[in-house]
Amino acid sequence: MNATTPIGQPLTRIDGRLKVTGAATYAAEFQRPKLAYGALIQSAIANGRVAKIDLSAAKSAPGVIGILTRENAPRFKPYPDELTKNGAPGESRVPLQDDNVYWVGQHLGVVVAETFEQATHAASLVRVQYEAKPLLVTLPGEGANAGQPEKFIRREKLQVKRGDVDAALGTATHKIDVVYSTPIENHNPIETTSTTAEWEAADRVLIHESTRGIDQLQKIVANAFGLPRENVRIVCPFVGGAFGSKGFQWSHSLLAAAAAHLVQRPVKLTFTRPQMFDSAGQRAHTEQRLSVGAGKDGKLGALRHATTTHCSPVSEYTETCGNMSRMLYSCPNVEVTYRLLKLNLTTPCPMRAPGETPGVFALECAMDELAHEADIDPVEFRLRNYADFDENENRPWSSKKLRECYQRAAERFGWSKWNRKPGSMRGADGSQIGFGMATAIYPAGQQKAGATAILNKDGAVIVRSATHEIGTGTYTAMSQFAADTLGIPIETIRFELGDSRFPEAPNNGGSWLTASVAPAVMGACRELKKKVVDLAGSWPNDSTELTNLFTRAGQEQIKAEFNSEPNKEEREKFSFFSYGAVFVEVHADLFGQVRVKRAVGIYDVGRMINPRLARSQILGGMLFGFSTALMEGTVPDEKTGRIVNPNLAEYHVAVHADAPEFDIDFINEPDPHMPDLGARGIGEIGIVGAPAAVANAVFHATGKRVRDLPITPDKLI
Ligand code: MOS
Repeated sequence: MNATTPIGQPLTRIDGRLKVTGAATYAAEFQRPKLAYGALIQSAIANGRVAKIDLSAAKSAPGVIGILTRENAPRFKPYPDELTKNGAPGESRVPLQDDNVYWVGQHLGVVVAETFEQATHAASLVRVQYEAKPLLVTLPGEGANAGQPEKFIRREKLQVKRGDVDAALGTATHKIDVVYSTPIENHNPIETTSTTAEWEAADRVLIHESTRGIDQLQKIVANAFGLPRENVRIVCPFVGGAFGSKGFQWSHSLLAAAAAHLVQRPVKLTFTRPQMFDSAGQRAHTEQRLSVGAGKDGKLGALRHATTTHCSPVSEYTETCGNMSRMLYSCPNVEVTYRLLKLNLTTPCPMRAPGETPGVFALECAMDELAHEADIDPVEFRLRNYADFDENENRPWSSKKLRECYQRAAERFGWSKWNRKPGSMRGADGSQIGFGMATAIYPAGQQKAGATAILNKDGAVIVRSATHEIGTGTYTAMSQFAADTLGIPIETIRFELGDSRFPEAPNNGGSWLTASVAPAVMGACRELKKKVVDLAGSWPNDSTELTNLFTRAGQEQIKAEFNSEPNKEEREKFSFFSYGAVFVEVHADLFGQVRVKRAVGIYDVGRMINPRLARSQILGGMLFGFSTALMEGTVPDEKTGRIVNPNLAEYHVAVHADAPEFDIDFINEPDPHMPDLGARGIGEIGIVGAPAAVANAVFHATGKRVRDLPITPDKLI
């Protein structure tokens, strides 16, 4: 580390100016020669098959160039297990190879025209005849599986059992047995999904797509078209928000490529807002039964977390609600179960903190309910049940400063003013005031990654990795690591990402980007420095030294590459998580409207790389959590399977006006078991805990315990 290291500095975004001036190029903004526009043909029924597609009116509509349907679709090769096992293609089958329909909005083809408007108009003229079958879009409810047990899939691998929960519940002094539910939620990034596909040769395709899975998309397209990977190039320098979407690859990518092949022109396929609700994944509806018991001393004796959720008919993606219940608290008797039902809805996928957001909502509300039951301060209750090691894996934490998070957050929030009687605090305007708190936790994963570092003749250093910038600050953070390793000013570094030609990097998800890609960047820079020092004795400080170096090297560039891997030993010895404590004050008015007025969040995410970007990331996550608690919910119509509210007018997300006063800070202690880095994941933990903190505060304000999200006014009055 150099003396003037940029690591830990609150630097502004390197790409900030490009973004606010509109100069950053997003997927839909790349102009290609002879570009044509695609519009999706989508199913109007939720279950059954397509009997006939009548294209006559569409074909003769103005501007139409070609129409892709099952009739003329290429024979895509099926996905190998390697690709489907992590759910990456969104569906286990490739599109347009059969007539089956599984949900409303399923892709049946693409109309290609000269303009977006012409394509959209022509797609509206396509007439599809269906043979419809009965559909199911709702969960039958906890305990209601008696009539149809065979329909549930048990996710054995995710299930955990230690001790005897029933026996321990039987002897518990304090207990609760309640069901929480969270609705289907959809990602609503400002940038909708977009793909532009272009065949540069008969066997070479270039794709500009808004994706955070560059290498995975490359594999998927290459596999489907039977091409070598290097013949598929994916480019994506910016993603305009993802929140969990754009990480799986959906059928539109293959359809855009097939449509471009059909018309022999570049084809751009950009989703409308409603298509973000049926074509790019969503968070599944969950029902979670929490049976929890504690002794007289307030120590947990039993914890059962039983999740019922759904997948689509063509994927078994599971929202893993119970994962954190395995180990967040010390408890000798624990059981985590899952039941999964196939519904006629689009395949669910990760949405920020998949599993943890709904799961920790339920767990942290249950902790609040039990603390209330036992008449113990909820902060004290959590401290009494603090887990000093991971009881699920039976190994120590890599580092855990959660106690400090509770203490510091409680102090800064003014928790000492908490009055244990619900409904006891009133504002000057007559509103009911409530305080609530919850724990945040998220796994700190790490993946393999590669990077190259190049020194150019002009002294510029270019560092490259096929990673992603989804708004979290990758350009900035990776430049910080490169500058730190080389000991040169950050302005000298140009970090490039978003191109499958660069060294392979993992899908951007699971809050592991920095912890995975930074070691590769540091490694490549270390190697580069070594090469340069071997040649010149030291890093060149001026143009004369540069000229001498390159004369000696006899090359135009000096280049180094590095592939990093997680430290297996450390990973097996310790459990890696990030932690936080969230405290909120809510005001509920006479009409049941709840507003979050103040929010304090203190987080332990290891070493701070860039406190400004870290705070932004957490702030966005917390606000997302308040949105989850109070507003968001996708409503499918039970009779038709259609989404009733696929737009931002009826699917509410928190906006600036909903933001409370935030007080966000970090413990900032390096994780000793993240070698060279000290930093753990920060991407998703901001949302975790926030919904429960709000729900707990609403209970404290009103005395009403709302267990199904979102907490809309109708549930309070
Ligand atoms: Mo996360 S929704 O695994 O990026």
